[in-house]
Amino acid sequence: MTLLERYTTTVELTTYDDIREALFSPDLSRTFDRRTYEDGNIRNGIVSIQHGPVHRARRRVENSQFRPDKLRLYERELWPPLQDDLLDRLLVGDEADLYPIAELLAAALASRRAGLDIDDRDIGTLERIAGIVDAFSQGSAILDAKDPDAVRTLVYETYETFEREYIAPARERRLALLDRVARGEAGEETLTQDILTVLLQHASDPLLELSDGKRIVREVATYLQGGTHTSGQVAVNAIDLMFASATPEAHLERAATDLLFAQRVGHETLRLRPTTPKAKRRAEVATVIAGRAVPADSQVLLNLVAGNRDPKHFGADPEAFNPDREVSPGVARWGLSFGAGAHQCPGRTVGGGLPVAQGSGEDPDHLFGLVGLMIQAFARRGALPHPTKVSEPDTRTDRYTRWAHYWVTLGPRRG
Ligand code: HEM
Repeated sequence: MTLLERYTTTVELTTYDDIREALFSPDLSRTFDRRTYEDGNIRNGIVSIQHGPVHRARRRVENSQFRPDKLRLYERELWPPLQDDLLDRLLVGDEADLYPIAELLAAALASRRAGLDIDDRDIGTLERIAGIVDAFSQGSAILDAKDPDAVRTLVYETYETFEREYIAPARERRLALLDRVARGEAGEETLTQDILTVLLQHASDPLLELSDGKRIVREVATYLQGGTHTSGQVAVNAIDLMFASATPEAHLERAATDLLFAQRVGHETLRLRPTTPKAKRRAEVATVIAGRAVPADSQVLLNLVAGNRDPKHFGADPEAFNPDREVSPGVARWGLSFGAGAHQCPGRTVGGGLPVAQGSGEDPDHLFGLVGLMIQAFARRGALPHPTKVSEPDTRTDRYTRWAHYWVTLGPRRG
């Protein structure tokens, strides 16, 4: 068995073009730990660490949940009233801890997409989901964890709870719906639109390697976690970068009144503060990446922080926070923060919307993304730097772009 601990050497890539080449290489995988789930690999079998045909088959099925009609339905119809209702109850008084609030908002949307039948207007329920997501997030960052054994124990326990309390009832309901459709008693339109449904629909396809029901639980958890923690962290980092800029009030006022600008703030935040500062790959075979020899079983570190500040594509002042910056044609404003190639984030349009091109604001098909909508909502509700309470980073991993608490005061509404 090959474990991460046994990689032969480390190769680090730091330029945008080199990292992009690595992300497209079929010789590099995200499979570090080859143990079974039972033997200690808490990520065994999930899409994020699959490689080759099984990964492609899973993505084909799961990507169906991210088609434009579904994205529009979520962003335009389901999300705005839910966000308003939650914020009316969460942002009250004259101060707030923004990080847990951003996490609750993101958890509400991610739960629907993943396929949990929760009451997403109930704050207690969302807090419980956020707690579960926090455990899964530590699991997904286990390669950077300071205490991996403690993380493993926590994640095993959380999967049990997650399956019992959330997946079991949701699965039963969906299987009954699928059965009615199969018998011709109901049409396809009666099915729920979520990851759990499509996985159950294709569970018997051997290409997907999902016949063990526990894998479906872990796959749904991957989407729940992937959609929550990241979006919440980016929205709060965006507020932090605006507060720290030379003209905070001008940025906040613009974000409150111009959704396209709020979206660009989100993209610039993603570029400067990627949720995964260093992505990791393992060389399945000896290969050459960007002209560099990469021996088999090496660890390849993709330094997204450096790649996203590559002056070749992001201009002469790549360290600066400038949502209006020009970037090279064909390069996304968010740099490589949604990955690229086979593992590129399937939820990138949910979180970041569609790429911002000239005139996008008037395009009726444009999508702004959850992060942009959250940034605008926080700016509109008067968020200001807290004069006394100190915000705290989440220090449980080496991913320095994560917050545990982020204190703001709530001044007069903007916009
Ligand atoms: C701003 C928000 C988000 C950020 C910054 C983000 C970032 C990323 C990154 C960097 C990767 C690729 C990691 C790598 O290749 O090493 C990834 C993969 C993934 N993301 Fe996201 N993500 C976000 C939102 C979402 C949403 C909303 C969902 C689900 C609804 C989601 C689900 C996933 C999944 C399932 C993968 C694994 C895909 C695969 O391995 O094939 N993400 N994300």
